[in-house]
Amino acid sequence: MKVHIFTYGCQMNENDTEIAKQLLVNDGLEVVQSEDEADVVILNTCAVRKKSEEKIYSHIGKLRKKHKKIGIMGCVAEKEKEDLFKRGVSFVIGTRALNKIPEAVRNSQEGRKQIFLDDTLDEIEYEHVETRASSHHAWVTIIYGCNRFCTYCIVPYTRGREKSRVIDEVLTEVNNLADRGYKEFTFLGQNVDAYGKDLADGTSLAKLLFEASKIENVERLWFLTSYPSDFSLEIPQVMATSDKVAKSIHLPVQHGSNKILKAMNRRYTREEYIELIRNIRQIVPDVSISSDIIVGFPGESEEDFEETVALVEEMQFERLNLAIYSPREGTVAWKYLADDVPYEEKVRRMSFLLNLQKRINKSLNEKYLGKEVEVIVESRAKNGLFYGRDIRNKIISFNSSEGLIGKNVLVRVEKITAGPLYGSIVEEAL
Ligand code: SAH
Ligand code: SF4
Ligand code: F3S
Repeated sequence: MKVHIFTYGCQMNENDTEIAKQLLVNDGLEVVQSEDEADVVILNTCAVRKKSEEKIYSHIGKLRKKHKKIGIMGCVAEKEKEDLFKRGVSFVIGTRALNKIPEAVRNSQEGRKQIFLDDTLDEIEYEHVETRASSHHAWVTIIYGCNRFCTYCIVPYTRGREKSRVIDEVLTEVNNLADRGYKEFTFLGQNVDAYGKDLADGTSLAKLLFEASKIENVERLWFLTSYPSDFSLEIPQVMATSDKVAKSIHLPVQHGSNKILKAMNRRYTREEYIELIRNIRQIVPDVSISSDIIVGFPGESEEDFEETVALVEEMQFERLNLAIYSPREGTVAWKYLADDVPYEEKVRRMSFLLNLQKRINKSLNEKYLGKEVEVIVESRAKNGLFYGRDIRNKIISFNSSEGLIGKNVLVRVEKITAGPLYGSIVEEAL
């Protein structure tokens, strides 16, 4: 039986897809690259905003027309559960029930509807996952779930409570991958700074970064996503002493007004966030900090919005993901807070911030002009150019060849934009 998995959503979903593919292969099933070739199509889904969810339903509609057996895994599986059967889905796999995928696929031909929502995470053998999307960079999930319950967010409902993987197991996985030629690793968690807290044995993200950086052949370590009040200054301290830990921190602030931060249940103030960034920059002066912001949260007045604008100007983020507030069923904000900012106003605020951030990006990028930066060649883009990232997570495009993917090259930056930088390779195979 031929199976295809299509992935929506965050990096954690990408990692789950890689694991699911390995489980299918172990069971003797064939994983195919194209949807049309497949008998069974599994969608690994995201529910973070209404739009993300709607994309899934329209994809299900297209698959039904093609008479495919359909499986749903990921966050929409947890959110909608049995209701997905009404949409013609054959099986539903919860975010912690990956191990049930081969069984669900095999049974799907019998026409019986199946749903698996149990927690079988402990059974996953990460070090044996060979079906990875890249051959030089690996996603490594280190903590599942989230306990933070930001009032707008569905993730704690779809991913469950925080549960850390044992540090030795993670290090074994990194070791094995490094032996197989992997040089870049991204440690993943919805709240990656909570890593180890539930184990109560001294495990922490800083300790993991420190230990992993000692592994031979490991060249670059990344981590995603940080939560401000759980963030430990030990992390920039490790960054400052190791040239393997990328100088890049994704630290979503979500809003600039204390009133809204409180309504979001973010558990820090604007002032505390600013102080944290100041402290991080004192330890690692050239650190790249990126962030997420939600506009149009319930009760966001013009003054509240202005506070976000002022914060964005002050922080000089290297990248900013902006999202319009989208009420999610079951969350506290959906239950108790009226979605009272008019849609046009949300769009206006969003595009204002987009333009502001573009200007900031451009002026930060100007510092790169004429510089030579070390880049690991990542992939080829649709425009034919190759691209990679430097240690500050800056994306650089250049002419290259397939053979250089995964290799370190020196690129001279010749042109800057508000988005990627453009340059030419001046030295190959560093
Ligand atoms: N764990 C991360 C990211 C979670 S989801 C964190 O704590 O920041 C990724 C981003 O989607 C969030 O940072 C937030 O900006 C956005 N997001 C989450 N729920 C949303 C909602 N209901 N409406 C709009 N944006 C949302
Ligand atoms: Fe969602 Fe907040 Fe958890 Fe991030 S920290 S996943 S925004 S609840
Ligand atoms: Fe989306 Fe779930 Fe990730 S809601 S962002 S796929 S944790």
